[in-house]
Amino acid sequence: MKEIKILAVDDIEANRVSLQYLIQEYLDNVELILASSGEEALKITYKEKIDIIILDVQMPGLDGFDTAKYLKSNPRTQNIPIIFLTAAFKREEFQQKGFQIGAIDYLTKPIEDHQLINKLNLYIEVIIKNKQLQAVNDNLYKALQKEIELKEQIQKQQLELIEQSKMAALGEMIGNIAHQWRQPLSLISTCASGIKLNFELGIAKDKEVKASMENIMNTTKELSETIDNFRDLSYKEKLAKFNLSKIINKAIKAREHLIKDNNIEIITNLDNSIELTNLPNSLVQALINLIHNSKDALEKIDSKRYIFIDSYINKENLIEITITDNAGGIKTNYLNKVFEPYFTTKHQAHGIGLGLNITYKVINDSMSGKIKIKNSKFTYQETEYEGACVTITLPFKI
Ligand SMILES: Nc1ncnc2c1ncn2[C@@H]1O[C@H](COP(=O)(O)OP(=O)(O)OP(=O)(O)O)[C@@H](O)[C@H]1O
Ligand SMILES: [Mg+2]
Repeated sequence: MKEIKILAVDDIEANRVSLQYLIQEYLDNVELILASSGEEALKITYKEKIDIIILDVQMPGLDGFDTAKYLKSNPRTQNIPIIFLTAAFKREEFQQKGFQIGAIDYLTKPIEDHQLINKLNLYIEVIIKNKQLQAVNDNLYKALQKEIELKEQIQKQQLELIEQSKMAALGEMIGNIAHQWRQPLSLISTCASGIKLNFELGIAKDKEVKASMENIMNTTKELSETIDNFRDLSYKEKLAKFNLSKIINKAIKAREHLIKDNNIEIITNLDNSIELTNLPNSLVQALINLIHNSKDALEKIDSKRYIFIDSYINKENLIEITITDNAGGIKTNYLNKVFEPYFTTKHQAHGIGLGLNITYKVINDSMSGKIKIKNSKFTYQETEYEGACVTITLPFKI
């Protein structure tokens, strides 16, 4: 395909033929289209993409000047360079008129062939350069467009990722709340059905009813505290200075009924002087999880059931809390798995395997502490026992 399309407009056939001859002879990459009138020229410019127009001035119908005015008034054609080529309108005023309309050149005949060819060559060169520049520009524009699209896509993906991780965090939060709610809910249900049964049997005693009601009220409070603890990801329990023994006793009280019903004895050996600045409610939740685990394990043994809770200051001047039971301990090959989420040896109805995982996160991440679990052998009242022993280490201040 030829690179440049020239439209030559002349009503005199001889002129058209000689121009055609010239161009064919000297300009390789030019395709010449001929028109015999202004009207025909306008029609052609609608259909073809013309690069240069060589326009005769004196023509019947639309003359060269009017044709040029039409071309210049149409956005589609206004940028096509126009060269007037005339034998008749040589005077200065016509030349001026031609330039005023917007022609790039005004050539008058007779004109030497090589002079005309040279001029055309010059314009062709400029047009080709322009085209190349335009192509580079188009490519740049396309590349830019692509880059913008890519960036938008990345942004969209990032938003989706954020959304996904938000949903995952939300799921985790709901899982955590559900976990902490299972025990208190069943406690409330047990208390309520106990009262109902006693009423039906006619053996309900005021004192017992009152105690059960209090238990229900306390447990409901615990439910709402759990929500506060996990409410949203930005929620942080406020740091507070508190007495450790009080918090340990609060956790024990929260599971008092469960402990009594299962004939478990809790033996505490607490340093009542320990005061620390940390997250008291989170610590209650953690201790409740550990007491609950011991209770679950103790249910399976027939001998006496103990949970020992000790608190003291260790050699490194850190606070230590240990929760030990005499339920036999954890299988050695499970010991390094128990903190993993959803690790459980219990039936689905009794455990989902989140208790120790939540406790680990609370102690490590929120409370700047450490938690370890091991099996321990010990003697109590001259009897040897074995059971799981959880050690929580906490700083005095975070
Ligand atoms: N005191 C313990 N004695 C014996 N085994 C224990 C004790 N504490 C935890 N485990 C073991 O560790 C596992 C994981 O405990 P974790 O508290 O994470 O989950 P779970 O109690 O099974 O279920 P969930 O706490 O979600 O209701 C338990 O299934 C149990 O096998
Ligand atoms: Mg548990």
